[in-house]
Amino acid sequence: MANTYKPFAPLVERIKKDGVCLDGGILKVDSFVNHQIDPTLLQSMSIEFVRRFANKEINKILTIEASGIAPAIMVGFLLNVPVVFAKKKKPSTMGDMLVTEVFSFTKNKSYSVCCSKDFLHQGDKVLFIDDFLANGNAAKGIIDLVKQAGAELAGMGFIIEKSFQHGGDFLRNSGFQVESLAIIDSLDNCQIKFKGE
Ligand code: G4P
Repeated sequence: MANTYKPFAPLVERIKKDGVCLDGGILKVDSFVNHQIDPTLLQSMSIEFVRRFANKEINKILTIEASGIAPAIMVGFLLNVPVVFAKKKKPSTMGDMLVTEVFSFTKNKSYSVCCSKDFLHQGDKVLFIDDFLANGNAAKGIIDLVKQAGAELAGMGFIIEKSFQHGGDFLRNSGFQVESLAIIDSLDNCQIKFKGE
């Protein structure tokens, strides 16, 4: 499904003001997204996600710990649906569960991601929310978990997508509705180049 990209201006402006470019194509946004969190911006971004997925029936929000949890909760609150976060460590108390492997490019290692079968099952219409879309490996893991559960992926929403790592191409070419609030085409020479600018 082809999506047209619509930047969410308040986020783009905030990245310009407070985002810090690090070597290796990493954008540091820990002063407002994934360490210190600006709840007012988070609320407005979540309202925007709800608007963009208004065409979809959604009964559950899914994310992966840790940084996806904050935006996922806000979207779940607005839609009045439960929020499930897939875990990176298997809790000893978890019974029947779905497990998949995710490769992290930034950490150069694979890790298991799991979710209890009690909270993701057939008939669920799931919206995946996360902070970053880079290579798309976390998203691929989520696709696998949703498939194993026999659930349906209604869409995927990301706060920031780095198009030069091509996860978004894969997901859109696979037919998913992918909505990213800001897309960054390049971080070369420590310059943040936004798509469409
Ligand atoms: P992918 O899932 O799209 O393939 O991403 P990748 O393996 O490259 O990234 C792994 C982790 O790094 C993810 O967080 C992802 O959110 C984060 N990440 C990727 N690119 C950036 C970036 O430019 N800036 C920042 N700040 N983070 C980035 P994670 O390891 O799952 O950690 P957590 O923070 O969610 O706990």
